[in-house]
Amino acid sequence: MPRREEDNEMIKVTGLEFAYRQSPGKAIKGISFDIGDGEIFGFLGPSGAGKTTTQRIIIGLLRGYRGSVEFMDKERRSWGKEIFEKIGAAFDFPNLYEKLTAYENLDLLCSYYKNNSLNKDELLDSVGLLADRDTRVEKFSKGMKMRLNFIRSLQP
Ligand SMILES: Nc1ncnc2c1ncn2[C@@H]1O[C@H](COP(=O)(O)OP(=O)(O)OP(=O)(O)O)[C@@H](O)[C@H]1O
Ligand SMILES: [Mg+2]
Repeated sequence: MPRREEDNEMIKVTGLEFAYRQSPGKAIKGISFDIGDGEIFGFLGPSGAGKTTTQRIIIGLLRGYRGSVEFMDKERRSWGKEIFEKIGAAFDFPNLYEKLTAYENLDLLCSYYKNNSLNKDELLDSVGLLADRDTRVEKFSKGMKMRLNFIRSLQP
C-alpha cells in the first residue's frame, strides 16, 4: 500500500542480519524495510528466506541480531516487557486453547493486558466468527482457527 509522507514509521528495520547459533551461515543477510502507522505491509519471500526469523526478532523471541530494529522510534533491545502492551503477533501455526471457546480464548488473552478496550464480539464479527463465539476451538476448521488467531493478535 503506498505510504504518505506524513505517515509515522512504526517499525523500521535497517541492515538486519541474524545467524542461528546451531546453524552455519546467516538466516538473514542484511534486510531493510519500514512499516508506517496503519500500513498493511506484505512481507513475501521464498521458503527459508527469513520471514519468520525477522518476525521473531521484532517480537523479541530472538536476540543477538546485527543492524537496527526500531519499534516506535526505540531500538528493540531497549524495550522491556511494556512492548507487549503495544505489539501483537500471530504466527503461521495457530496456538489456541482447543478446550476453550473462541470467546474464552480472546477473554483469557485479554486478561494479560493492562489496557484493553477492544470489543471481542466486534472482533469476532469482523472475521465472520460471531456465530461461533461459544464453540470450542477443537471443533474449528483450520481457516476458522487462523481467523481467531489473527484477531487475537489485534487485542493489545
Ligand atoms: N530454530 C532454528 N534453528 C536453526 N535454524 C533455523 C531455525 N529456524 C529457522 N532456521 C533457518 O533460518 C532460515 C530462515 O528460516 P525462516 O523460518 O525465517 O524462513 P521463512 O522465510 O519463514 O520460511 P517459510 O516461508 O518456509 O516459513 C532457514 O535457512 C532455516 O533453516
Ligand atoms: Mg515462516
